[in-house]
Amino acid sequence: MSVDQRIEQLRSTLSLEVGRLTSYDDVEALRVRFLGKKGLLAELMVFLKESGPEQRPLMGEKINSFKQEVTGHLDRLSSSWKAKERSSLLEKEAVDPTLPGRQSYLGRAHPIQSMLQTVLDILISMGFSIQLGPDVDTDYYNFEGLNFSPDHPARDMQDTFYLNQGFLLRTHTSNTQVHVLKSHAPPVRVVAPGRCFRNEDISSRSHVFFHQVEGFYVDHKVSFADLLGTMDYFLKRLLGSETKTRFRPSYFPFVEPGLEVDVMCRACHEKGCRLCKQTGWLEILGAGMIHPSVLLAAKIDPEAYTGYAWGLGIERLTLLEHGIPDIRMLTENDLRFLSQFP
Ligand code: DAH
Repeated sequence: MSVDQRIEQLRSTLSLEVGRLTSYDDVEALRVRFLGKKGLLAELMVFLKESGPEQRPLMGEKINSFKQEVTGHLDRLSSSWKAKERSSLLEKEAVDPTLPGRQSYLGRAHPIQSMLQTVLDILISMGFSIQLGPDVDTDYYNFEGLNFSPDHPARDMQDTFYLNQGFLLRTHTSNTQVHVLKSHAPPVRVVAPGRCFRNEDISSRSHVFFHQVEGFYVDHKVSFADLLGTMDYFLKRLLGSETKTRFRPSYFPFVEPGLEVDVMCRACHEKGCRLCKQTGWLEILGAGMIHPSVLLAAKIDPEAYTGYAWGLGIERLTLLEHGIPDIRMLTENDLRFLSQFP
């Protein structure tokens, strides 16, 4: 076969292949097949090697000009495929400003968070400011600084999750009292919301973690009447003035005197139901006058200053507000349940 015939063959192979191109990448593959080091055009060099010296210059010229022809052809193809692919990409990504917007689904606050926010809004409007305490704390802040004697039953392993190296998960938000009183000189008027943890059996009424809002006020001449007045005003704003509340004497190591506040069970209107253990009342907070030992431990002079404190459970209030029969529903993340709360 002469070089001319071979070139003619290659020319028709090329035009056949060009008809089959579907992308820029195909063009580049074709370039390698024809112009690559071991490509079809490189093979034409065999003709040069085998020819005599008089034919060689002419043959070289033929091969070269064919090479230029192929290169030019493939260059044009590759730039036109590149342009084609770019414009189809633009088309795909084009924005149609006349389309209606997609609907976006708004999340909603968990009922616990809504209740927490309601409580905090009222307390902030009453002049309290928010301070956060740590969930992981030491025995000192959770117990000792709050006047728990070393053998107090609340320190029992059954109630407290102990961690390594002397740490524990706080069992109440009262730990924040110790942190704040140690680091701030009175007057202080603080609310401390947060999670608490107790190693208890999970049931319809109690869980191993829950939320509390701690509040405390320390200043000259803060009285028990201030505590009662503050609780009364706060609960009326929170629950409405028609909801009955009752104050009972109670004991907590870090207050003296101590009390608990019950609210009338809204689920049964005092008739007695599962939620209120058939009593018609639900305990929602503990409170009292801060014990002098707690003030002393924080280096505050109990002769010069007095204070009150309370701790409010958020889960109970939420169950009460919505008539939810089981505390476990709040942590199951069942959207059928959660989506009922606007
Ligand atoms: N820390 C108590 C608890 O978790 C609640 C409490 C009671 C907080 C009386 C107080 C208080 O600040 O004065 O059961």
